[in-house]
Amino acid sequence: MRSQTTAEWTSDAADRCKALWVQRGWGLAERERFSADVEQLATLAPMETGELAQVYVDLHGRHKLAKAQVEAKIHEAIAKLSSCLSDNPPLVDLVRQDALMIATLLDKMHDLDAMVLKLEVVGLNNCSRWHQDAYVGRAIVTYNGAGTKFLEDSNVDFDALKSKSQLGCVRDPAQMLQTQAGDVMLMRGRDSRAGGLIHRSPEPAFWPSGTVRNRLCLKIDVPPAGLGYTSVMN
Ligand SMILES: [Fe+2]
Repeated sequence: MRSQTTAEWTSDAADRCKALWVQRGWGLAERERFSADVEQLATLAPMETGELAQVYVDLHGRHKLAKAQVEAKIHEAIAKLSSCLSDNPPLVDLVRQDALMIATLLDKMHDLDAMVLKLEVVGLNNCSRWHQDAYVGRAIVTYNGAGTKFLEDSNVDFDALKSKSQLGCVRDPAQMLQTQAGDVMLMRGRDSRAGGLIHRSPEPAFWPSGTVRNRLCLKIDVPPAGLGYTSVMN
């Protein structure tokens, strides 16, 4: 479901959609404005995971928490998450605004026990197989370079999808969908009512020097109710 604003994500119709997608329509200059900064950040992250920061927000027993307490937990988590970007005010402001908007919205949409906020640098550590996520959902914003590729179920050969090569699992490549840098997307996972969106990372891109172009991604995961921190690491 494409929407103008994330406010539409709380509708009944949105609850049945595997992908909720707000296109922000960044131009080329906007999509590349953080690329040099992201290469700097990549030097700080472990190469295998690209993880710059991960913060678990424990909302267990939330019915006993006042709204202000939930908000305080979210704000605290975002401050922790974004501290690694503090040398870059435009980027840190944008990530904080997005994280606050998404986390607040997810909290409204789901009866959350927890959410996990992550900032990751993605280069060669991309997830190149088509797959569904094993949780309720993941909101994702990519800040530079290409965005997530995804498919309508009608465009998937599910038998081919399960095969090792996945050859032919995309019935019509022309119908493949892809977010752009700046877009906000919620991908439902297998544990959601709508079912899991089939998606994958974009193919890595390279600088003229031959080194990989790193992308910065904000991910906010909604684990299944009752699952703890270690269950949602991947
Ligand atoms: Fe995934």
